Amino acid sequence: MASTLMLLLQLLLVSLVSASHFFGGTTTYTYKGRNPDGSFNVEIRDRDTYDGCYYSLYWYCSSGYCGYTSTSQRGTLDSSTSAPLYNRQWCETETVTTRVVQSNRPFEMRAASCCWIPTRTSYWGHYWYLNTLVDLGERSDTGKPNRAPEVAILPFLRVPENCPRTYKLMSFDPDGDKVRCRYGNPGSAECYGCTQHSGFHLHQDSCTLHYQYTNADPLVNSFELVVEDFPQGHISLRYSDGSQSSRSPLSAPTTTTTARTTTPWWWTTGRPLQATSPPLSKLPLQFSFLVDPPAPSCQEGLYLPQFVHPTPAHGQRIHAEVNKEVEIRIKAQASYAAIQDIIMSGPMNMTKHRTTHNEFVLRWTPFSSDLGNYFPVCFAVESATGSAVTSFPGNTHSHNHGTPTSQSGVYQSEMRCVILKVGTEEIKTNVICTESEMRVEVEKSSLRGLREDHLRLSEPSNTLCSLERYSNSTHIIGVIPLNACGTQIEEDEEHLIFKNEITTVDDSGALITRKHNLEVEFYCQYPKKGNVSLGFTAHRTMVEVFDKGFGTFTYQFEFYPDNQFRSIIDPSSYPLEYDVGQKIYMEIDASSIVNDTEMFVESCRASPYDNPNSQPTYSIIEDGCPVDPTVMIHETDNKRQFRFCIEAFKFIGLHDQVYISCSVMMCEAGNPNSRCSQGCINSNNHHHSHRRKRDSAIQTAAHFVSQGPLRLKRSADISMSAGMETQSAS
Ligand SMILES: *[C@@H]1O[C@H](CO)[C@@H](O)[C@H](O)[C@H]1NC(C)=O
Ligand SMILES: *[C@@H]1O[C@H](CO)[C@@H](O)[C@H](O)[C@H]1NC(C)=O
Ligand SMILES: *[C@@H]1O[C@H](CO)[C@@H](O)[C@H](O)[C@H]1NC(C)=O
Ligand SMILES: *[C@@H]1O[C@H](CO)[C@@H](O)[C@H](O)[C@H]1NC(C)=O
Repeated sequence: MASTLMLLLQLLLVSLVSASHFFGGTTTYTYKGRNPDGSFNVEIRDRDTYDGCYYSLYWYCSSGYCGYTSTSQRGTLDSSTSAPLYNRQWCETETVTTRVVQSNRPFEMRAASCCWIPTRTSYWGHYWYLNTLVDLGERSDTGKPNRAPEVAILPFLRVPENCPRTYKLMSFDPDGDKVRCRYGNPGSAECYGCTQHSGFHLHQDSCTLHYQYTNADPLVNSFELVVEDFPQGHISLRYSDGSQSSRSPLSAPTTTTTARTTTPWWWTTGRPLQATSPPLSKLPLQFSFLVDPPAPSCQEGLYLPQFVHPTPAHGQRIHAEVNKEVEIRIKAQASYAAIQDIIMSGPMNMTKHRTTHNEFVLRWTPFSSDLGNYFPVCFAVESATGSAVTSFPGNTHSHNHGTPTSQSGVYQSEMRCVILKVGTEEIKTNVICTESEMRVEVEKSSLRGLREDHLRLSEPSNTLCSLERYSNSTHIIGVIPLNACGTQIEEDEEHLIFKNEITTVDDSGALITRKHNLEVEFYCQYPKKGNVSLGFTAHRTMVEVFDKGFGTFTYQFEFYPDNQFRSIIDPSSYPLEYDVGQKIYMEIDASSIVNDTEMFVESCRASPYDNPNSQPTYSIIEDGCPVDPTVMIHETDNKRQFRFCIEAFKFIGLHDQVYISCSVMMCEAGNPNSRCSQGCINSNNHHHSHRRKRDSAIQTAAHFVSQGPLRLKRSADISMSAGMETQSAS
């Protein structure tokens, strides 16, 4: 009887839980100038997280005049399957909306619906309420509309119950205003749960959230915070209708409190500063926080990932330039856990990558409309132990509330947030990449007094590597081989990257990279896809410049008359004619590409048309493994050459012509983590590995080369054709 009731209850819970999908959200806004008719543009960036990528918040106007939407676009920021038990994934999207308002008077927009994911206070998932106050009134101190604080957070935070931790919430204000982070007020539709969770302390004047201790629970804590900015002095806001309104700084509480010395300063109930006027703006900051079972150790670098060089510090300002790719490099280590993934919340279209040296790289390119604006980016790295390393929770979990989560063993690093500031070009640079060298040109006039004879490449011993050699009166020009002068090679899922740098030296020729003003890092970035791009990074003290160009790797794909592979068959004699069963010798060659790289042939398929995506196709090689039984691979010493042969065939009944298309990839030579080193990955493993796809450092990023047509002299015999069909279906 009791168990039947339990079962019914569980069914009920499961069905209710399926409607619970909200993890939290944030909003920021930026004034975007006036239109010829006097109306005002404001860009609202709204990030929200659900257990899927297809939902978004619906905002309505709750006070004032909110104008209308002129443009809106939406994109996915990040998603992860490392999620709370009842929601096996989270996905954060951003909606960027431009609104046109007739006046610059304040307005408020609200989003409200159901339901949060199951939380500690409400297993059913409570409603959500988010509230945004936009005020574009002209400030008396800056003469411009207020700039809202930059707000960002990871949508899903987790910590082992025994590991106290401090989260510095992003609270940067471009106007230098005082930013306050507080719990929402139930009375003003800022939150629905409005819970101040035990085990946590929010220090609202420093926007710091301290996790102290609470019992692990498979249900998350929902945080519904509000971020506000207040001026440092008394100011007024002027509106287009002639009206005015004053704003005051936060002030010390009127009553004195007795200091308690036994608890940390932030833990006392010491009264926060009080507001005596409305804030300049008010933004929602809502997220989900899971307290996991205890970790064997709380020391960073053992189970919890520890950030190491070159990860930027929390709060660091990173210079970005319009139309130039900026990158943020992040590295974390954990001795007793495997680094799994990076999770991040950054501007739309920011991408994340993992190199074969286990660094994570976030990349983003600002538009000209982003000039002068700030973009916060938050990130954390996750590690895992035990079963969580290779497999994720399956469908066998009980939805019983009382059951603790599986020993997931997923550990999150601290959260760090940085600010990208989009500025103008500081140092005029240009990088050109060819298949064997990179050429970097730096405009001397933009160096502002730096002595050019103090600039060196990272390994100046070789005369080949001298900057004087190619420089002229207006430009410092370096022509650097991809495999000399200290050039480093790096590989991620999509790219091979060759890097070098120009640094400042003193008169004695000693390298002093930190004291002096200039450090120009540049790189040529070649997509393994075969299309080439190239890059450039310049550091001054606190100034980074990025530049990027594109190039291509080229591949030769030729037919040979025999297994000697001496001279190619003249392409003017195409289409070549073969008897069914006759051997066709082929070679793919990337030999013009530098040493230190190797080529890998991931797949080769035949099709009756010169289009690798056309149907039908017949697999010859897949995942590096021969599929057709007649494939023979001929060894060669050159790591950038692939020789093979196959017996000629014909597509059943219809087509005499056959094209062969191969997907090839370049890797850093000898790196055991690269796809090229792994060789044939048989399809059994392949099935199991798809879940780990995003964890794997190297993914398929291939370039198609194709050759043909081949024509058959005689019709194929039936048995041969039938055999082929079976294989292509397997
Ligand atoms: C994101 O990228 C898409 C495709 O390149 C582009 O159309 C869109 O404008 C970008 N959006 C933002 C906000 O950067
Ligand atoms: C110096 O080289 C740059 C880059 O190749 C070129 O654009 C510029 O015209 C050259 N200047 C002179 C004075 O030759
Ligand atoms: C790279 O090559 C692919 C196919 O070969 C092509 O569709 C794509 O536009 C190329 N990209 C660049 C940046 O050249
Ligand atoms: C590659 O290395 C070989 C042997 O070390 C050398 O002979 C050859 O010139 C190198 N090729 C390039 C393109 O640097």
